[in-house]
This record gives sequence, structure tokens and C-alpha cells, in this order.
Amino acid sequence: MADAIYRDTWADINLDAIAYNVEQIKQKLPQHSNVMAVVKADAYGHGGVEVARKALEAGASMLAVALLEEALLLRNANIKAPILVFGRVSPKDTPIAAEQDITLTFFQKDWIREVKDLTLTHPLKLHMKWDTGMGRVGIRTADELKEIVDELYGVQRISLTGIYTHFATADEPDLSYFEVQKTRFEQLLHVFNTIWKESVIIHVGNSAASIRFPENMYHYIRFGIAMYGLYPSEIVKREREIDLKPAFSLNSQLIHVKKIASGESVSYGATHVASKDEWIGTIPIGYADGWIRKLQGIDVLIDGKRMPVVGRICMDQTMIKMDGEYPIGTKVTLIGKQENEEIEIDEIAAHLETINYEIPCMITNRVPRLHKEK
Ligand SMILES: Cc1ncc(COP(=O)(O)O)c(C=O)c1O
Repeated sequence: MADAIYRDTWADINLDAIAYNVEQIKQKLPQHSNVMAVVKADAYGHGGVEVARKALEAGASMLAVALLEEALLLRNANIKAPILVFGRVSPKDTPIAAEQDITLTFFQKDWIREVKDLTLTHPLKLHMKWDTGMGRVGIRTADELKEIVDELYGVQRISLTGIYTHFATADEPDLSYFEVQKTRFEQLLHVFNTIWKESVIIHVGNSAASIRFPENMYHYIRFGIAMYGLYPSEIVKREREIDLKPAFSLNSQLIHVKKIASGESVSYGATHVASKDEWIGTIPIGYADGWIRKLQGIDVLIDGKRMPVVGRICMDQTMIKMDGEYPIGTKVTLIGKQENEEIEIDEIAAHLETINYEIPCMITNRVPRLHKEK
């Protein structure tokens, strides 16, 4: 992205909200549980480096990402905290991780074999992933566990520093499958403790699990969506076990204002036809910014009031039906607050029939993120 910002559309990222949310969960956790800030996917679209720094300042002591590239971006920004990569990194790339002190996830015996054959100039730290029911990646049985641990014994320059699993339904009203996963984890842990004597860190909980069961989170929680001030699901939001502040807002400005007469139309396909005289405002955001066409009809805020998006959303521009004439340059809030009105990310997610996680991620990096703190 260019250094200077010329466009009239931007996302404000409230870093104080990130700190607030980390502090809220820390207050709920017992002393022995720490916070791993999940900053993958550019911190869920909030800006990886800035969020990582703020989360660490607020008391997180480890970071997590999905890709080696994302970890390297943090290291290049001189962030020295421990970083865990959740995704599978190809064995051939492990020397880079070792050199940069980036912890990797593994779950395959053959992966360890391949890494053993490489010359590592630095120690490689590893966390082992157990699939207790998520069905994504991880070892699943006690036999697999024993085989993979056998592979690890006595290997120079590789150290097993952690084990973890991930819950599929910790955010749902029915927690029976969550209990199944918990039991499977405990059974595997029992086997592990009989064959591995060195200490490892254990982590199992995402935002939902850690908000609902803070007492049972072992050494770390993996704090993602709630760190951004969003509740993992409706039920967790309703339970209100934690107070969260959203960090992401999306703003633009009117770049054109006009009155159209009854019978005139707006945008491609002429899908919106004025039934009487209407004031139409144009804002410079469109589907190339992740403000996708399915958002036609949603409200935005102008002058503290809700006004609808009308006509098809274009690649770079969107039109609003306004309740009157407003000057060019008037602020338009697509996500966030104006006076007493608020458009929450959850409202956008509901309109798109998806989850709130997807919304800040889908706003492309063509929209500059402006990081603010007191
Ligand atoms: C392995 C793992 N742990 C933790 C998280 C964070 O989850 P959440 O954002 O629900 O807190 C994720 C995110 O998808 C994940 O993949």
C-alpha cells in the first residue's frame, strides 16, 4: 500500500479496545493461564503488527498466526515475543522458522522424519496438534501419539515445547460435543504423560471456550475474535460473561450529492428507481474493497441517522438514499457508531448470512487501516 493516503475511505482501528479486551479476559483467567493473541490473517483484518504490539503491551505473552509468512512479518517488525504458527509449514522451510525462533505446529510422523534429515543451525520449537474432533489437522489416536513421540526421542535441535487441540463447538448452545472433545483430550494427555517426561505448555481454548470456561484452560488461551471486540456467537454474546469493545470501524465520505426525480434510477441494472424526488449520496467504496454487492440494502450512518444503500454496489462506489441534502465531505459510517446509532459488524454478518469473523477479513487492504490509541 502507498504510504500516503489519498482516498476518502478508511478503517479506524481502536487499539485501546484491543488492550481493553485482553485485560477483560485476563481478569477472568486464573493466574497460571496466559494469553496467546491470535493475529493471523493480518489480525483478522485489523493490522497484524499494530495489534500484536498492543496485545503484548496489554498482557498477552505469545502470538499466533496461520502462516510462516505472517510470523516473519512480525519478526521483521522487530517483535520478539514467542510466535506459534498454526498451519502446516513444509519441512523444507523449517530452518527459517528455527533461525527466527518461530514455533511450528506438527502432527505427522513423516514430517518429523523429513525435518530430521535437514541440517538445522538453530533449535526448532514445536507444538504437537491433537485432533480431538475438529476434523481438520492433528493426530487422533493414542497409537499415533506413541508413534510420533517415538520419532521425536533423542533428536538434536528439535524440541517439543507444547501440545494443543481445538474445539469445534465451544461457541454453541449445546456443549455435548465440546465435552466429548474435552474427554478425548484428557485421555490423550494421560497417555502422553506416561511417555513424555519433559514439561510442555498446553493450550486448548479459543475465545468461546476461554470466556465460558476460564478455569479449564491449562497454560494458554488462544484469544482471537474476542480480542477484536466481537463475540464468537449469539449465545456467547447473550451470556455476557465478558464485556468487549469492538476495535474495527469503517468510514467514508460523501464525494457527490444530487437530487433525482421520481422515475430516475441509480447504478447498474437500474435496480433502484426513485418513487419520488430523492437525495442520493455517493461514497468511494465498492466490491473491490470487500464491500460486496450483497450489501445492497444495508444501512449506513450519516449525521447519526440510518440511511440505506440503494442500487447495485459498484467496484469502487456505492450510493446512499439520504433524508436530505448533505455537503460533500460529510462522514459516512458503514461500520461503527455515530451519535446514538451503531452499525455492528454482527448486523453486516447477519445481512450476509455469515459470521462476524468474515467481515473485517473481507475488507481488502485497499482500505487503509488507521490505528488509533490515546
Ligand atoms: C487453532 C486456532 N486456535 C484459536 C483460534 C482463535 O479462535 P477465535 O477467533 O474463535 O478466538 C483459531 C481461529 O480460527 C484457530 O484456528
